[in-house]
Amino acid sequence: MNIAIVYDSRTGTTAQAAAAMGKLLEEQGHQCHVLSVAEADPEEVSQADFICIGSWTKGLYFILQHATRASKRFIRQLGDLTGKQTAVFCTFKIATGKMLPRMAKALEAKGAKVVGQFQFRGSAPDSAFLSFAKSIDQPVSTAHGG
Ligand SMILES: Cc1cc2nc3c(=O)[nH]c(=O)nc-3n(C[C@H](O)[C@H](O)[C@H](O)COP(=O)(O)O)c2cc1C
Repeated sequence: MNIAIVYDSRTGTTAQAAAAMGKLLEEQGHQCHVLSVAEADPEEVSQADFICIGSWTKGLYFILQHATRASKRFIRQLGDLTGKQTAVFCTFKIATGKMLPRMAKALEAKGAKVVGQFQFRGSAPDSAFLSFAKSIDQPVSTAHGG
């Protein structure tokens, strides 16, 4: 599958997590484009077979956690995602509250199907993500003409 991974990162942790996620998915035979919210074109991303959107966790550590403004704006800018498979992720230090379900809800409002929600304490994707990467079982098709 053609997978777009779009992230917002302030100090590099979420960028590293996104790159590591892309590497794991590529090892499973998928094609990944890993881009920051500033670089990514919402129209192009909307065309991917699978979309992952990630943010660092912003809040008061124990309460009021939310995705960053730029990542929420990026989700709003995406086109119609009816039936599209998506996942959300974040990096955090203490707790993420309702941040991931809220990101999922924003994608669902575009018609997307959210099939994964992942949180990493630091930049390394965990075993849950690895299992998920292995469970997406439609590698990039070797193009047939026409
Ligand atoms: C202003 C600010 C608010 C934060 N709020 C939270 C929070 O509510 N919960 C939490 O677990 N981590 C919080 N963090 C920690 C970051 O989410 C975490 O270090 C993240 O991995 C940073 O990602 P980045 O390196 O991609 O910017 C906060 C960090 C900052 C700078």
